[in-house]
Amino acid sequence: MAKKQLRIGMVGYGFMGRTHSNAFLQAPKFFDLPYEPALSAVCARNKGRVEAFAANWGYGAVETDWRALVERDDIDLIDIAAPNDMHHDIAIAAAEAGKMVMCEKPLGRTAEESAGMVAAVEKAGVPNMVWYNYRRIPAVSLAKALIDDGQLGRIFHYRAKFLQDWTISADLPQGGEGLWRLDVDVAGSGVTGDLLAHCIDTAMWLNGGIEKVSAMTETFIKEREHTLTGKTQPVGIDDACAFLARFDNGSLATFESTRYARGHKALYTLEINGEHASIFWDLHDLHRLDYFDHRDEGTTRGWRSIHVTDGDHPYMGNWWVPGLAIGYDESFVHQAADFIRGLDGDAAAPTFADAHRTDKVTDAVLKSARTGQWEAAS
Ligand SMILES: NC(=O)c1ccc[n+]([C@@H]2O[C@H](COP(=O)([O-])OP(=O)(O)OC[C@H]3O[C@@H](n4cnc5c(N)ncnc54)[C@H](O)[C@@H]3O)[C@@H](O)[C@H]2O)c1
Repeated sequence: MAKKQLRIGMVGYGFMGRTHSNAFLQAPKFFDLPYEPALSAVCARNKGRVEAFAANWGYGAVETDWRALVERDDIDLIDIAAPNDMHHDIAIAAAEAGKMVMCEKPLGRTAEESAGMVAAVEKAGVPNMVWYNYRRIPAVSLAKALIDDGQLGRIFHYRAKFLQDWTISADLPQGGEGLWRLDVDVAGSGVTGDLLAHCIDTAMWLNGGIEKVSAMTETFIKEREHTLTGKTQPVGIDDACAFLARFDNGSLATFESTRYARGHKALYTLEINGEHASIFWDLHDLHRLDYFDHRDEGTTRGWRSIHVTDGDHPYMGNWWVPGLAIGYDESFVHQAADFIRGLDGDAAAPTFADAHRTDKVTDAVLKSARTGQWEAAS
């Protein structure tokens, strides 16, 4: 018997519109799901371009106004893959229309914005999730399993970095297509909400809540031409941010992110040091987890590099044969699969409520950078 369909309405056909469309197409091919995802409709403002996208990915219909998408009665799930300033209104309208909602990160531009989104999905009682996809890279999922199993023992240190170099030129404009991340009104913040939000989500998933933070930020290029107005305007985003944090479990952390680290394109690394063992992970080598266990026999003790591709590693039994790696895009496939599996059981995380906690931390980071004080993060 044919499975019941999960009819998806996608907002946005950019970078994330593509990863999500791919994820919904791939998930049922590799995972046993209770519902069959169907690419029912996609929405963006440019009709010609959204039609071309729909034809390429197999969407059944297009809309140019997200409100029309939300109102369609042949859609079960609204998936928001649009810039950050769109998340709030679309998510709330979708929840009020009784639709399930998946939303890209950061959930809100501020914690106040995302609080309203949490209230809306909880009032409507609709399944919801935020695409913090790095949790579902098998090596990161393995790190979680090792920590939950107590292999690291008491955690002392957490260290995360997310480094890029694409905004160093002073000639780069701000705002508009491809550059909305530099426009504070659209993005909400710079590297803090864009890149550190990922680091914070992973960190709180692996190591628990963050109690307080002390941060510094910098905007290296103070003015840029705005593509929509043609005028040179102040830059309101943080180009770089570094912060100290104390976790609820007493461990100490350092986080750093910048778009001014020449030579780095998307260097997300994390290291955790525990009483018995340490782990290290690097997005540029994403299928490996480095692991050091002090309990190993002394003469052969050392860092081992686990190639996380065996059948008993998280998610890997559903892919090829042991030893063959998967990549970035599959983290979205795993997230789509877990969301759909969670519809008939325990809801998959991170939910809107989880992502709201991340927004509270990023708010506290930005506040601390302004006040020069430690700020409570929860
Ligand atoms: N999970 C991740 O790793 C990850 C990576 C990149 C981006 N993101 C997040 O995904 C979201 C989108 O980022 P992106 O890189 O895909 O951006 P993008 O600029 O590549 O694409 C944005 C899309 O939104 C559409 N859009 C803009 N305004 C719209 C409107 N009013 N109505 C309908 N569609 C509209 C655009 O046409 C475009 O298709 C952001 O919130 C971003 O923070 C997450």
